[in-house]
Amino acid sequence: MALRVRHPNLLSLVLLSLLAFASAKVFFEERFDDGWESRWVKSDWKRDENLAGEWNYTSGQWNGDADDKGIQTSEDYRFYAISAEFPEFSNKDKTLVFQFSVKHEQKLDCGGGYMKLLSGDVDQKKFGGETPYSIMFGPDICGYSTKKVHAILTYNDTNHLIKKEVPCETDQLTHVYTFILRPDATYSILIDNVEKQVGSLYTDWDLLPPKKIKDPEAKKPEDWDDKEYIPDPEDKKPEGYDDIPKEIPDPDAKKPEDWDDEEDGEWTAPTIANPEYKGPWKAKKIKNPNYKGKWKAPMIDNPDFKDDPDLYVFPKLKYVGIELWQVKSGTLFDNVLLTDDPEYAKQLAEETWGKQKDAEKAAFEEAEKKKAEEESKDDPADSDAEEDEEDSEASHESDSESKESGEDNEEDKHDEL
Ligand SMILES: *[C@@H]1O[C@H](CO)[C@@H](O)[C@H](O)[C@H]1NC(C)=O
Ligand SMILES: *[C@@H]1O[C@H](CO)[C@@H](O)[C@H](O)[C@H]1NC(C)=O
Repeated sequence: MALRVRHPNLLSLVLLSLLAFASAKVFFEERFDDGWESRWVKSDWKRDENLAGEWNYTSGQWNGDADDKGIQTSEDYRFYAISAEFPEFSNKDKTLVFQFSVKHEQKLDCGGGYMKLLSGDVDQKKFGGETPYSIMFGPDICGYSTKKVHAILTYNDTNHLIKKEVPCETDQLTHVYTFILRPDATYSILIDNVEKQVGSLYTDWDLLPPKKIKDPEAKKPEDWDDKEYIPDPEDKKPEGYDDIPKEIPDPDAKKPEDWDDEEDGEWTAPTIANPEYKGPWKAKKIKNPNYKGKWKAPMIDNPDFKDDPDLYVFPKLKYVGIELWQVKSGTLFDNVLLTDDPEYAKQLAEETWGKQKDAEKAAFEEAEKKKAEEESKDDPADSDAEEDEEDSEASHESDSESKESGEDNEEDKHDEL
C-alpha cells in the first residue's frame, strides 16, 4: 500500500521538475562521460618547451562515485590548456549561469582552479595564457594571502577584476562554483549552491567610469572651520610655570670622600631630570564650537560616464576553456555547465556533487587515515624494544577491532596483503 501511495507523488515530482526545466536553455553541458575527448581540444601551447601538462581522465583518489570521472591535472610544474566549443550565443536579455566543480586533491598551495569563457573565433590548438577571454571565474589559491574566487570580466578589451573579496574553498574535496549574470546587471557567486556574494556590475567592477565624481571645481570655502579641537582660550599659564627648571641637582648625590676641592675644583652634584618639569606650557584642548566637519567636495554627475545598457552582454560566447599553471598537480574539473536557468544549475549540482559529497568525504577521511598509518609504519624505529612490544600489541588490538567493524576494513587488509 505504502508503495502505491508514494508512486504517484514521485511521478508528479518528476513531472514538476520536467515542467520547471522545460524552459531552461542549456548552451553547454559536459559531465565528462565517454566521448569527452572528441568535444575538447588539447592545446599545443607550451608543448614545444615540454611544459604542456597531461590531463588524467579519472574520478580521483577519493570520490563519491568511481564511475563519475572528470579531468585532472597530472604533472607538476606544467601549463594546462584545453577548451571545448559550443554553438555561439549571446546572453543579451538572458540570465547567464556558468558552473563547474573543482577538487584540489593535491592540497593546492599555489595554483588556479578557474575556467574561462571565450568569444569569437579562437584557434583552440593555440589556446593559452595570452588568448583573450570574456569571463574568467573560479578559485585561486597562493600561499596564505590568496584564497579567493576570481570573477574577471572583459569589457572594452580590458580585464576587470571583481572588487569584492570572495573567499574560496581550500580543502581537498569537490566544490561547485557558480557565477550568475543577469540582464539587470546584477550577479551572484555561489559555492556549493550557497550564495557567497551578490551585487551589481556597476559597483563591484570598474567597467565604466563612475557615475558620480567629486566636483573638481569645488573649493573649500575660506571660512570653513575644519579643526575639531582648539586650545581653550580660558586656560591660562600658571604663574611661575616657565621658572621650573628642566633639570635639578641630584639630591641623592654626595661629594666623594676623597674629593679635594683644591685639586679637583669645587664639587657640584650631577643633574637629573626635574620631575616637576612638564615641558612648554600648552593650553588645554576643547571642542571647537565652530567646527563644521571635514570639508567634502559635492558629488556631481561624471561627464565621462555614459551608461551602457548592454554592460552584462557577451554577444559571441563560443568556447569554454581551462588555462592554468600548476606547481603541484591534482586539480580535477567536472560538470561544466552553461545555461540560462539558475534552477537547472542548482539541480545539476545537487544530482552530482550533492549526491556524492558525503561518500567522497568518507573516502577522503579513509585515505587520510591510511596515509597516516603508512607514514607511522615507515617511521624508522628509534624506540627501545619494550616500546616496540607495546606498539605491536596495540596494532593487534586495532586489528581485532577492525574485524568487528565490518567488511571495508577486511578489504583494506586484503589490499595490504
Ligand atoms: C590518474 O588518476 C588515478 C586516480 O587518482 C591514479 O591512480 C593514476 O595514477 C593517475 N594517472 C596518471 C597518469 O597520473
Ligand atoms: C575603451 O577603451 C579605450 C582605450 O582604453 C578608451 O579610450 C575608451 O574610453 C573606453 N571606452 C569605454 C566605454 O570605456
